[in-house]
Amino acid sequence: MNTRQIQDEILHIKKEKNVCILAHAYQSHDIWDIADYVGDSFGLSQKAAQSDADTILMCGVRFMAETVKILAPQKRVLLANPNAGCPMAEQISPAFITKLKEQYPEHTVVAYINTTAELKTFCDVCVTSSSAVKVVKAIQNNKILFIPDCNLGSWVQQQIPEKEFQFVPGGCPTHLLMSVKDVQKAREQHPNALLLVHPECQPAVTKEANFVGSTTEIIAFAKNSDKKEFIIGTENSIVQHLQFDCIGEDKQFYSLSKNCVCHNMKLTTLGDVYGSIVGTSGEEIILDEALRLQAKRSIDEMLRLG
Ligand code: 13P
Ligand code: SF4
Repeated sequence: MNTRQIQDEILHIKKEKNVCILAHAYQSHDIWDIADYVGDSFGLSQKAAQSDADTILMCGVRFMAETVKILAPQKRVLLANPNAGCPMAEQISPAFITKLKEQYPEHTVVAYINTTAELKTFCDVCVTSSSAVKVVKAIQNNKILFIPDCNLGSWVQQQIPEKEFQFVPGGCPTHLLMSVKDVQKAREQHPNALLLVHPECQPAVTKEANFVGSTTEIIAFAKNSDKKEFIIGTENSIVQHLQFDCIGEDKQFYSLSKNCVCHNMKLTTLGDVYGSIVGTSGEEIILDEALRLQAKRSIDEMLRLG
């Protein structure tokens, strides 16, 4: 079968079995084409809460499928490729967060959604890259313990200087690969381009940017802008998607660094989607009910505040 035939087959079976396919923006374009919804982590969690499908198939990484299961326990939730995990989600252990909470007893624990379901049970509220500033602003407490991404945390802190933040070392190994040197080089090569970056980048990189936002926000900014050239400081699939979406317009998109590839996001293939939908591959996400209910509180709080 060629790509189009596999896609047609997936679309046919998906309708028959009432499956909703959710895809993170870092997935490849052949997966975008068969997804019911493509977006950033915040959009995916909203869609998970709203969907009336019997099965939700997540094309992304494990914490995203866990988030869907937390929000939609009555549904069958599948992760298209069971090996797709986010290294950042595993950076803080239950023992370490327990110690941190003892160290900062007066702080509200804010967790980036890129955390395991288990870690979420220790936190007060979750945030995503697009909801973080709004959610943290809305928290009544001025003392914030922000985990695990200190780069996203510093960016949020800059927008809310009136609050006091505590961070721990942690973050996205993919976005860490982009440096100020890459910014200098890209600006020399493309002096008329705007620099759009994800807040998971190092503060020295976000400081240089013309726009900082989530994957969905970067895509929307570039599409709506009347400028013609853009340097993209996030996972490189976004460059390809923008080229695709803006075909026929005289817009140019450049990667800030050729190294910015998330190998976990790249694991999922159209074959995995097909296998998951016919039942030969993929993994059903099962969560302990007490853990799910405890983890849900922090996601509900994010959806309420954000
Ligand atoms: P957003 O989807 O919130 O932009 O985050 C990007 C990311 O790294 C997800 O793992
Ligand atoms: Fe995790 Fe970074 Fe990959 Fe996102 S891009 S899934 S934060 S490793």
